[in-house]
Amino acid sequence: MLYKRLENGIEVPMIGFGTFKIPNDQASDVVKNAISAGYRHIDTAAIYRNEIGVGKGIKESHLHRSEIFLTTKCWNEDQGYRKTLEAFEQSCQRLQTDYIDLYLIHWPKPLNSETYRAMEELYHQGRIKAIGVSNFHQHHFEDLMKTATIKPMVNQIEYTPRLTQKPLKTFLEKEGVAMESWSPLMRGKVTDISLLQELSRKYGKTVAQIVIRWNIDTDVIVIPKSVTPQRIKENIDIFDFCLSKEDIDAINDLNKDQRTGPDPDNFDF
Ligand SMILES: NC(=O)c1ccc[n+]([C@@H]2O[C@H](COP(=O)([O-])OP(=O)(O)OC[C@H]3O[C@@H](n4cnc5c(N)ncnc54)[C@H](OP(=O)(O)O)[C@@H]3O)[C@@H](O)[C@H]2O)c1
Repeated sequence: MLYKRLENGIEVPMIGFGTFKIPNDQASDVVKNAISAGYRHIDTAAIYRNEIGVGKGIKESHLHRSEIFLTTKCWNEDQGYRKTLEAFEQSCQRLQTDYIDLYLIHWPKPLNSETYRAMEELYHQGRIKAIGVSNFHQHHFEDLMKTATIKPMVNQIEYTPRLTQKPLKTFLEKEGVAMESWSPLMRGKVTDISLLQELSRKYGKTVAQIVIRWNIDTDVIVIPKSVTPQRIKENIDIFDFCLSKEDIDAINDLNKDQRTGPDPDNFDF
């Protein structure tokens, strides 16, 4: 496994397991399967409504809690100081844990600063090991920094061969903020891109593996989701190769600033 070291020294497995759209009643089996396949980093969110299943899967894997890096997120309606503290406790209860490795503000909202104040308090209490944001453009980040006392350690954003986010990525690198990519496989659509199909033949790896490796080779933590046992294994089988500099550049050139999900500036709350 490769790890990304955050500003506070916490190490995050570079590949994690995404759980968006996995129904709660399937989540425990899928998560157990992912853990058996070697994933040690699981990404969920209160709004996915599957924290109970995810927590059950982790518990039933019989690994020590400290062997799993667990992320969850504060949903938009839970923003604000008090509500965030309550939402955090509820997430912990559903996940059967008393701490979260990485807690994120799910989407930027006007209440970011109050939400973040609650998160900083939880961080100081040791209930959150790392603190971060998601879907923050540079301007959201700079606004938050006007009141934050701890710089967010992670920004989880959409990052794909069609949305390479170069200016934001450069900004985050300069600030020492780890970048994490969501919907890295464009929800399955990466397999249609012909250059990636060519690279798949060249490296003898699948298109999904090429894209996951491109994330890691560009220093981005990646959290692909799958409920399919074969794909769960395939997506983590990416440590026996790396991409050449030319091929990384060629994938970067596929950028069209095209989103699979909403733009944080226009997201309708
Ligand atoms: N912070 C945020 O706002 C935010 C937003 C979106 C997502 N996320 C996080 O990021 C994670 C990943 O994003 P995502 O779930 O939206 O999409 P994704 O990981 O890009 O793609 C998942 C889709 O790709 C398919 N797939 C998986 N492995 C494949 C492979 N090897 N070959 C072909 N198809 C494959 C899956 O199908 P099967 O499941 O049927 O195998 C599923 O339909 C989420 O699960 C969530 O944890 C965060």
